[in-house]
Amino acid sequence: MNDRAIGVFDSGLGGLTCVKELKRLMPKETIIYFGDTGRVPYGTRSRETIIKYVSQNIRFLKTFDVKLIAAACGTASTLALSEARDAAGDIPVIGVVEGASEDAVKATKNGRIGVIGTPATIGSGAYEKALKSIKSDVYIKSAACPLFVPVVENGRTGKDDPIVKILVDEYLRGIKEAGCDALILGCTHYPLLREAIAEYLGEGTALIDSGQSEAAKIARYLNENGLAAESARPARFFVSDANVYNFSALAGMFLGEDIGGDVEKTDIEKY
Ligand code: DGL
Repeated sequence: MNDRAIGVFDSGLGGLTCVKELKRLMPKETIIYFGDTGRVPYGTRSRETIIKYVSQNIRFLKTFDVKLIAAACGTASTLALSEARDAAGDIPVIGVVEGASEDAVKATKNGRIGVIGTPATIGSGAYEKALKSIKSDVYIKSAACPLFVPVVENGRTGKDDPIVKILVDEYLRGIKEAGCDALILGCTHYPLLREAIAEYLGEGTALIDSGQSEAAKIARYLNENGLAAESARPARFFVSDANVYNFSALAGMFLGEDIGGDVEKTDIEKY
């Protein structure tokens, strides 16, 4: 048993997809969340910049004496996982790629898997590598979706929103035409667009929520290593932009409950 908190970070709201599932699977865990709202999006930036941001996020979360850190960001997990682990030292860091790839290989029946993510994630080839290492003959069709993150960060997630509909058609047409029956939502923001994506691709395509897969992986890790907590303290939420109200409202809406406290601003550049 270990009641230390779990640190979770993302460039913004997306990592809450992992938090939501973690709260469901492991309700006794305490969460310290950091959303880098002052520097979102990550997915259109250089690897060097992403590594700098991720290392700072890890150093910030380490000040809370966390027992594990979730890189609940596809971009951080595909471009900077080993640097995140270096910055974390002896604290384990779990990313989104492994769990989502395992779940996609389990879900596909025809061996055709789609992957969507930020331009940085898709450019990294990390999902292809992970999927092929699990099943070498899998067919993979990838697509970068650069405008999904800003759309989600602005709360435009409705399936009938005209902007969402145009973008879903533009980004997912190739995956639909390729006949993929499993799609990895390889950026943790994308499950917020799940309804629109599901409607566009139809019932025959399983959607793999990378934040959810990551939460399941964390739960297994904690249980297998005797690290699960016995009692939760209230979660704490930090952001890097001064506009904390925006995050608070959207986060509460997304988690389906009041986030139960103030969102605190931190000066991430200090770390
Ligand atoms: N949630 C992040 C991810 O999973 C969004 C990246 C971004 O900020 O562009 O990739």
